[in-house]
Amino acid sequence: MSSMKDDIVAQIELAGGRHDEAEIYGGAAGDLGLTGGPGSMSWEINGDLASVGAAGVGAILMEVLHPSVMHGVFTQSSYRINPYARSRNTLGYVLRTTFGNTEAAIAVIEKVKKIHGYVNGTRADGVAYRALDPQLIAWVHTCIPWAIMMAFDHYNRPLSRAEKDRYLTEQAVIGRMGGADWVPETVSELEDYVERMRSFMAYNDQTRQFADFLLGTSGDIATTRRQRFESWMGLHGSMTMMPDWARKMTGTYHSEFVERIVLRPNEKLKYRIVRWAMGEMPCKAMALARAAGVRAPTTSEGIAASAPVRQVA
Ligand code: HEM
Repeated sequence: MSSMKDDIVAQIELAGGRHDEAEIYGGAAGDLGLTGGPGSMSWEINGDLASVGAAGVGAILMEVLHPSVMHGVFTQSSYRINPYARSRNTLGYVLRTTFGNTEAAIAVIEKVKKIHGYVNGTRADGVAYRALDPQLIAWVHTCIPWAIMMAFDHYNRPLSRAEKDRYLTEQAVIGRMGGADWVPETVSELEDYVERMRSFMAYNDQTRQFADFLLGTSGDIATTRRQRFESWMGLHGSMTMMPDWARKMTGTYHSEFVERIVLRPNEKLKYRIVRWAMGEMPCKAMALARAAGVRAPTTSEGIAASAPVRQVA
């Protein structure tokens, strides 16, 4: 009979994937990958799956507030047919670019750029767009580390301004390699940038339908009442970390009371359950072993239990 922990891990892996491929997270001894290796803010923050999970759905909703991004996703993504594959690949992108060896990290960025090369169109209001427009890439990129950093700051440990700046600077490498000319690298650049971008944002019919999909109420997939409740709590909880204007625009704004008594405690509980069930993520354990030049523990040796690793040669 499987334990409660196994069931939770299975559920997390169904939606998020395993991320323990040796060819991606293993590799040459001492290879630190793209974001700085052990000791970097990226490895600390993105290594906390619970923070990445708490941030995810809010980051996605922020990304699609840009009507060009929304149109591209709405008309050219298979998210309705294969939502788990999309969420696994999106999480995989964050983990590979942070913990993957340099070759694997560059490869996933190039692969996704190739996919984006085919994504373009014209919105209902006549505005033509292409996913590889550096400004669109910059917006989507920004929403990801921004949301993860906020989640970590709320639920793991408070980050100093200098730590946040370091994290954004490390992650900016990924944004630029993904096709952006410029992305914010400090908290003040982030705040100015979000304020500048605000006038481009919209909550249109496509966004409404997309939000319904996230909430499990669009009818695209069968959902139980409990799943819809959990999705509602997850989306509204994740959006508590975003600016008030975005929460008002998306109908996820609540009073301080509801936030403090209902949404934040629920997010905190989920956060604790994920940390308890998952322990150290396999991809991080493998990347740490790679960086230190030691053999990565295999899953059967218990990566999550931080099995001791043996020196190679
Ligand atoms: C740095 C910015 C971006 C990142 C990190 C990103 C991430 C990704 C990833 C990881 C995939 C592959 C998903 C898979 O293989 O299942 C993907 C596909 C896609 N992206 Fe992006 N994206 C970005 C920007 C954009 C923008 C600006 C648009 C729209 C204007 C867009 C629209 C799409 C679409 C339509 C797909 C195809 C999804 C599918 O096949 O279902 N992306 N993106």
